[in-house]
Amino acid sequence: MTTTLITGGTVVNATGRARADVLVDGETIAALVAPGFTALGADLAAGVDRVIDATGKYVIPGGVDAHTHMELPFGGTFASDTFETGTAAAAWGGTTTIIDFAVQRQGERVLDGLAAWHEKAAGRCAIDYAFHQIVGGVDDDSLKAMDELVTEGVTSIKLFMAYPGVFYSTDDQILRAMQKAADNGSVVMMHAENGPAIDTLVAQHLARGETSPYFHGVSRPWQLEEEATHRAIMLADLTGAPLYVVHVSAKQAIAQVAAARNLGKNVFAETCPQYLYLSLEEQLGAPGFEGAKWVCSTPLRSRAEGHQEELWRALRTNDAQVVSTDHCPFCMKDQKELGLGDFSKIPNGIGGVEHRMDLLYQGVVDGRISLERWVELCCTTPARMFGLHGTKGVLAPGADADVVVYDPAGRTSIGLGKTHHMNMDHSAWEGFEIDGHVDTVLSRGTVVIDGGQFHGRAGHGRYVPRGLSQYLL
Ligand code: URP
Ligand code: ZN
Ligand code: ZN
Ligand code: ZN
Repeated sequence: MTTTLITGGTVVNATGRARADVLVDGETIAALVAPGFTALGADLAAGVDRVIDATGKYVIPGGVDAHTHMELPFGGTFASDTFETGTAAAAWGGTTTIIDFAVQRQGERVLDGLAAWHEKAAGRCAIDYAFHQIVGGVDDDSLKAMDELVTEGVTSIKLFMAYPGVFYSTDDQILRAMQKAADNGSVVMMHAENGPAIDTLVAQHLARGETSPYFHGVSRPWQLEEEATHRAIMLADLTGAPLYVVHVSAKQAIAQVAAARNLGKNVFAETCPQYLYLSLEEQLGAPGFEGAKWVCSTPLRSRAEGHQEELWRALRTNDAQVVSTDHCPFCMKDQKELGLGDFSKIPNGIGGVEHRMDLLYQGVVDGRISLERWVELCCTTPARMFGLHGTKGVLAPGADADVVVYDPAGRTSIGLGKTHHMNMDHSAWEGFEIDGHVDTVLSRGTVVIDGGQFHGRAGHGRYVPRGLSQYLL
């Protein structure tokens, strides 16, 4: 077993920061050693196999991205990152665990969907991985399967109030799935947009000849996100199921979550970097077909309406608890281009698994969130929310040695040909400059990124069965 000492850095956990050395023994963290304990420290440095100098740098837990879609089937194509390419890109950006979504569609069996996802991922991941389950067809059989999911370490399901005919659940299906979740302890993750109303607006825009990517955003207005979020909260309240609203982009939807939380309910919100930085006007409204790069659902929102600022506020005040990427990349060529002349045929999704830690660190530099809150939003809370706490998302003795050395004096230029390792022909973040840099990444004690090199390997990453959420009220 290899021993590693990460010396001289400032260890940052969600709970605080301190100068400390991190001793790694094999795959786990053995000790955090304060610099005052010189006798012990000197002995440690002499005895270990490898020393990593983190002087002047932050030492943080590896990122936990609780929302990715490797190879997701969507709109007649598949998300362009495989588990091999997507997890390598994640590692480059300081993320050491992903929770991806296994898919069950109407007419398929839930456990077949899960088995298919295990097959896609096994032996291919550079970092550890876990699964949520999309339940796209709620019926007696899938409700029964939800109990087996829990024993398989899949303790959260995603339901969709959008995409009629694809993943959509009716209110009565949602009610029944929530009753089951309340009974077996699963977290219900909700895509909260009113799908039938959206489909009507989409048809009306297309009939008027409004076919460009901009109208993807216009046809999914905030009212239909707020309404669905409220409805999901009420159904969760009725049933007692914990509710985690995914990819929240509208300030009005966050207000619904905040109101429920203020009443003491188990309601949580996730947002994504794209909703914090990008907008309807600038990105979806880019000339020609460019806006297709940013077609995702929920959509990017108007900057004039101030959604982005409200989401940053929500992250500060814990009205929102988690930042994930909703990584769902599609190339422009042959994929996004399916929607030339009809925005409704553009596959929905943005690639970003590589850039989440950096993009949120820029929020620290810009004074929007604290260093500790950065770690909490990107590492610790996603781990606690989804039953991985103790091993993931924290630097503590006994935890997995998933560690990132982050250089606050470094710089990261995002874009093709620069820091881009995702399998896409463009970057949704082209030209973004970050005042920080991921220097070294360890996954279970193995150095996977160091000195601008990838040292990882497909198959190092392991499936992590999850326990029940450790974050509920
Ligand atoms: O546009 C998105 N978000 N694509 C991925 C599927 C989903 O709804 O999360
Ligand atoms: Zn969704
Ligand atoms: Zn998603
Ligand atoms: Zn650096």
